[in-house]
Amino acid sequence: MKRVGILTSGGDCQGLNAAIRGVAKALYENFGDKVEIYGIQDGYRGLIQGNYRLMRPDDFSGILTLGGTILGTSRQPFKQMSVIGEDNVDKVKNMKGTYQKLKLNALVVLGGNGTQKTANLLSENGLNIIHLPKTIDNDITGTDVTFGFHSAVEIATAVVDGIHTTATSHGRNFLIEVMGHKVGWLTLSAGIAGGADVILLPEIPYNIDKIAEVLQERQKAGKRFSILAVAEGAISVEESQMSKKELKKARAASPYPSVVYKINAELQQRISNEIRVCVPGHFQRGGSPCAYDRVLCTKLGAKAAELIAEEKFGVMVGVVNGQTIPVPLSEVAGKLKSVPVNCDEIQAARQIGISFGD
Ligand code: F6P
Repeated sequence: MKRVGILTSGGDCQGLNAAIRGVAKALYENFGDKVEIYGIQDGYRGLIQGNYRLMRPDDFSGILTLGGTILGTSRQPFKQMSVIGEDNVDKVKNMKGTYQKLKLNALVVLGGNGTQKTANLLSENGLNIIHLPKTIDNDITGTDVTFGFHSAVEIATAVVDGIHTTATSHGRNFLIEVMGHKVGWLTLSAGIAGGADVILLPEIPYNIDKIAEVLQERQKAGKRFSILAVAEGAISVEESQMSKKELKKARAASPYPSVVYKINAELQQRISNEIRVCVPGHFQRGGSPCAYDRVLCTKLGAKAAELIAEEKFGVMVGVVNGQTIPVPLSEVAGKLKSVPVNCDEIQAARQIGISFGD
């Protein structure tokens, strides 16, 4: 009998259920009734607290298109994993304990960067781990793409499209804040796909005077509005020169809830045109996975089952040139994948006159 645990950890995204389904269906195909699948509730928290349930094949039916995660999720910061807090709980010991109590042959972990670091830690502690890369941020090294990303691009693009019509009607400029944490993948794709005039990314620090100049030029050229797609992690040239600590302090002291409000206030002092702010927020992580993600999740899930059959562990299932391949967790854990500033997309965007505020 094979016994496989599965959990989803960190911020949710589209495709988690599609990937869970992919793993489960491929395991049942491979091992028939010689496999038991245990769903761990709410990510690593469930592993720490021993909160799990034996799943049935029916649990995995009808979930391909379902948003969120049937297993629940939680954020359990990696930095705290090896720290025994006030509750006196040794989290790593407990996680190993749950794994051993269930006599698992493998644990499949669906999550982003933080989740991956803990997955690597568990692998180093002797657990048989397979990681599937999920996040709308697309910031995981060792894979060309993460699931959730393409679905979020569709939503963020729809926001930019929708804002275009109202911006045209009123002749207003709009600052649209796009998720993506410390990287600009989502903003770059949605900005280009939605026809933004200015795209601001964490990878390219912006100059506020330059942005004001671009907006004024467009106004002079008779354009009624400008759309700015702004990554939530976008930073100014001044901020890029600060240490991490200084930046954190400056952000904490800032009167603005997020970056678009700060840019809005600064632009208001420089241009006369009306500006509005739009923050779609967690809406970008919600709802059904797009077709691309459904296919990707099915591929990743099937590959995870194959690796379990081959007893190949301590890996992430990455996608490289369209192929799903095992990538050692020790090689990629903790490595952020940022947007290369000279990538094709940025070059193409510049060639058609999109400004990056630099
Ligand atoms: O990592 C996914 C993500 O949606 C980021 O884009 C965003 O910065 C963060 O999670 C938001 O986290 P939370 O769901 O904890 O508010």
